[in-house]
Amino acid sequence: MRGPQTPLSYENGRLCMQAMPLDELAREFGTPAYIYSGDAIEAAIDSFRRGIGNRKALICYAMKANSNLEVLRLFRARDCGMDIVSGGELYRALRAGVPAHRIVFSGVGKTEAEMVEALQAGILLFCCESEAELRTLSRIACDLGTTAPISLRVNPDVDANTHPYISTGLKDNKFGIPHNRIFDLFREMQLMPGIITKGVGFHIGSQLLDLEGFRSAARIMRNLVEELVALAPLEYIDVGGGLGINYGRENPPDAGDYAHTILSELPFEDMTIVFEPGRYMVGNAGVLLTRVLYNKVNQSKRFIICDAGMNDLIRPALYQAYHDFWPLAEMRLERLVRADLVGPVCESGDFLARDRELCDFQPGDLLAVASAGAYSSVMASNYNARPRPPEVLLSEGRARLVRRRETYADLIHLEVPSRD
Ligand code: LLP
Repeated sequence: MRGPQTPLSYENGRLCMQAMPLDELAREFGTPAYIYSGDAIEAAIDSFRRGIGNRKALICYAMKANSNLEVLRLFRARDCGMDIVSGGELYRALRAGVPAHRIVFSGVGKTEAEMVEALQAGILLFCCESEAELRTLSRIACDLGTTAPISLRVNPDVDANTHPYISTGLKDNKFGIPHNRIFDLFREMQLMPGIITKGVGFHIGSQLLDLEGFRSAARIMRNLVEELVALAPLEYIDVGGGLGINYGRENPPDAGDYAHTILSELPFEDMTIVFEPGRYMVGNAGVLLTRVLYNKVNQSKRFIICDAGMNDLIRPALYQAYHDFWPLAEMRLERLVRADLVGPVCESGDFLARDRELCDFQPGDLLAVASAGAYSSVMASNYNARPRPPEVLLSEGRARLVRRRETYADLIHLEVPSRD
């Protein structure tokens, strides 16, 4: 298998992560619960960096994938920067000790308040996505008496061949500036006060499993950069994120092939290439532990009902995403049944798997939903007034609670009671 390896394995019939039996963690922290392998995250960072080799590069982890402070600290400790998309993410990154000069700010809808915060913090780059955004940033930087460093996000109109909700590089997507507009805009930018052009970038989508989209986008960037350097010096090319992982049925490229594909199209040795990987770094490092509550059969259809719902993990409902399930007791692998694995939320869309060959799970059984390190806990909600699960990080031989389970009191503590 290529890409980051799963940190899961059976030892004496019990499913373990980093040699720790997950049933013990389920007993200690309850279910549902997110468990992350710090070792797996560190291994993914190292393999990504090895893939880049000795080109001048900066890894800015796309923290939207998993922004727990202790997870961020693993990246900071390995000298990674962050790709942020909101003031909240800036706050988290700074709280985790990530230096502002390693932070890049993406997103189509930065507010003026967020621009001020990021300018005051002194971030490395604003990845700008429209002319209107540029003009706002120029005005705000002038008001603050400072200069905003800019990288223009190019929309290369490349098909990334992924789920439409996570495809971002087509001309019909809201992201980036059409590549045939870049040259003119770049020229106009040279006259705008308060901004300085430092780079260009792209991000064409997420969970990409073949390299063609990356190759085409990088080739378009190369042509652009060759034209743009005649107008202003460029220091950065931001190549976004998007490298896919194996959820159980995929065969993604490895980090070395991925980086080589992009870097060989961008032979600008003196420029820093900014990578923004998210899923690759954390996706396979996490599981969601859940317990089976009931089995039921409606007509001829079997449902296995567990205590994790779409509020805890929305990917199957939102993207028809596939996750593997590992029974915590290995013996459950012996018999398979066709069933839906569903949660307790009052929606028919509340499923983790539909019409799948699953283990013959019985009430009380524990299972691990695999590949739940990225876009999982961060997308959880309180729908149905369900407290969000805790997060546990395994590192240095111990299990640390890095976010506690929400309580019922947490559910209402932001609400303002009426005076009467
Ligand atoms: N850079 C930018 C500008 C992005 O928009 C994204 C992801 C990334 C980097 C990181 O991409 P990655 O390396 O993780 O593929 N919630 C969806 C994924 C949404 C991705 C959004 N942007 C999911 O659960 O599949």
